Amino acid sequence: MLITTCDKTFTLQPDETLLEGLERTGHDVEYQCRNGYCGSCRLKLISGQVSYNEPPLAYVGKDEILPCCCHPQTDLDIVCHLRVNTPEHNPDIFARDLFETE
Ligand code: FES
Repeated sequence: MLITTCDKTFTLQPDETLLEGLERTGHDVEYQCRNGYCGSCRLKLISGQVSYNEPPLAYVGKDEILPCCCHPQTDLDIVCHLRVNTPEHNPDIFARDLFETE
């Protein structure tokens, strides 16, 4: 299955969940239970279809999916962004230049 997010398109591997695929490809996605209970991983679905082995306990709106436990049935287009990993967003507080004076 091809997964298209706001920032990239990737192929979901047969042995990984959508959550695992998003993590592998550098996306910023929340999670806690990884099993359909908490709803932390909820994402907006733009197009495509997913199924669940069992109805998840967490609330899922009609245009939302839980990537930890859904099974894509078609290619998906979802709202998810890559992790921001720049020095401005994740400053190294131990970097020497922060403490150096002129
Ligand atoms: S991580 Fe809890 S429902 Fe997905």
